[in-house]
Amino acid sequence: MASYDVIIIGAGPGGYVSAIRCAQLGLKTAIVEGRETLGGTCLNIGCIPSKALLHATHMLHEAEHNFGNMGLKGKSPSVDWNQMKSYKEDVVGQNTGGVEFLMKKNKIDWLKGWATIPAVGQVKVGDDIHEAKNIVVATGSVPSALPGVEVDEKIVVTSTGALDLPKVPKKMVVIGAGVIGLELGSVYARLGSEVTVVEYMDAVCPGMDKDVQRGFKRILEKQGLTFIMGAAVQGVEASKTKAKVKYALKKTPETEESLDADVVLVATGRKAYADGLGLEALGVKLTERGQIATDSQWRTNVPGIYAIGDVIEGPMLAHKAEDEGMAVADVLGGKHGHVNYGVIPGVVYTTPEVATVGATEDALKAEGRKIKVGKFNFMANARAKAVHQAEGGFVKIITDKETDRILGAAIIGPGAGDLIHELCVAMEFGASAEDVALTCHAHPTYSEAVREAALACGTGAIHS
Ligand code: NAI
Repeated sequence: MASYDVIIIGAGPGGYVSAIRCAQLGLKTAIVEGRETLGGTCLNIGCIPSKALLHATHMLHEAEHNFGNMGLKGKSPSVDWNQMKSYKEDVVGQNTGGVEFLMKKNKIDWLKGWATIPAVGQVKVGDDIHEAKNIVVATGSVPSALPGVEVDEKIVVTSTGALDLPKVPKKMVVIGAGVIGLELGSVYARLGSEVTVVEYMDAVCPGMDKDVQRGFKRILEKQGLTFIMGAAVQGVEASKTKAKVKYALKKTPETEESLDADVVLVATGRKAYADGLGLEALGVKLTERGQIATDSQWRTNVPGIYAIGDVIEGPMLAHKAEDEGMAVADVLGGKHGHVNYGVIPGVVYTTPEVATVGATEDALKAEGRKIKVGKFNFMANARAKAVHQAEGGFVKIITDKETDRILGAAIIGPGAGDLIHELCVAMEFGASAEDVALTCHAHPTYSEAVREAALACGTGAIHS
């Protein structure tokens, strides 16, 4: 039994980043994690392993489709799936090991096991009760269940099972055209699976800019993914080796349709996870959607208990959790904690990548805001053309018509997930499109497309 200034429950990107900032601020800090390795969903079974598979399969795609054209002759590589999975595990190991190193470096105690909060100021791990002046709940999220669909993580899988399939399926049905469905769907399409995505809405990635939704779907279709839109999945019948996905189209709801699959990926969203902590007994308030309710400084209604990340409201993104982790540490260290929720980028790590930040054109129009839109296609960007990633991509910047202040942006194109940050920084500084347009951008870079879109908000882009 030990006594701490702060105990953080959950060592995902929210929790571990918060622990480091707490330690940097001189607080005696412990982190509780029941998994064998640190890093939470993101590092173990989410962002990081999926990025390894996205990278490996992108390389395969390049070898199969573009090497010949670049004068790189010879047989295309064949896929050793087990080796690809061990590469992925190695990437995961390096990252989770890195977090463990950071905990030691910052003198943060890792309390191994699953935590409960028996009383305010106490955290129980195994048989030990530790005292804490403050507790931060950073327990994340889990895949949400779909009625009529039983996940066995073998034939009917969530992202967890999809990252570790014993073999590449011949036919895969993905339920949900959100981020997980499209990232993992494109991994398996590149590996040769016949991938069909069944989506309830009429567009992919609900909530994203409409131009992006249309362009992105077209690009994915060209890459071999098939979409069935406006289709509500009603159930999945699974045997030991196969599954049948039953759905109804919104326009013909009385007709039951079905699809056969070797593997079904259920990617219909995630839900906050705080089960078994004992929050109910402590009287911690939850939202209607089962998230922990917090105020603007991440305090719950129970003094001394804070919450951050996927377990509270807001986008379920690792970087949003990290920002909240640092901010809540600042609060605990006696400072003011700040997260600008208006400038949190969203990225889909397909090829090309898709990235967005701020408001969408539609949302601003619906509000009656007077706006300007500057758009530039990657087809006119020399660098993107050189790497076969110009087709269908663009940068779109939306500004206030009167002030030229940047209100939002969307990018489909090479390196979009990195390019978006130029616009995030601009937005943080309240910059205008002209500020970006007047900044010299190196040639030849993808970032020139950002400048051109900014120019298009004013006098006009040069290369269009
Ligand atoms: P999502 O919310 O992005 O997409 C779920 C999709 O499933 C929606 O388009 C929805 O309309 C559809 N759907 C729901 N019920 C359906 C039904 N019965 N039939 C057909 N379609 C149905 O959820 P997803 O992709 O599972 O991701 C979960 C969370 O993880 C998200 O918050 C996402 O932001 C986060 N995430 C972020 C990543 C990134 O930043 N690159 C990567 C992976 C996950």
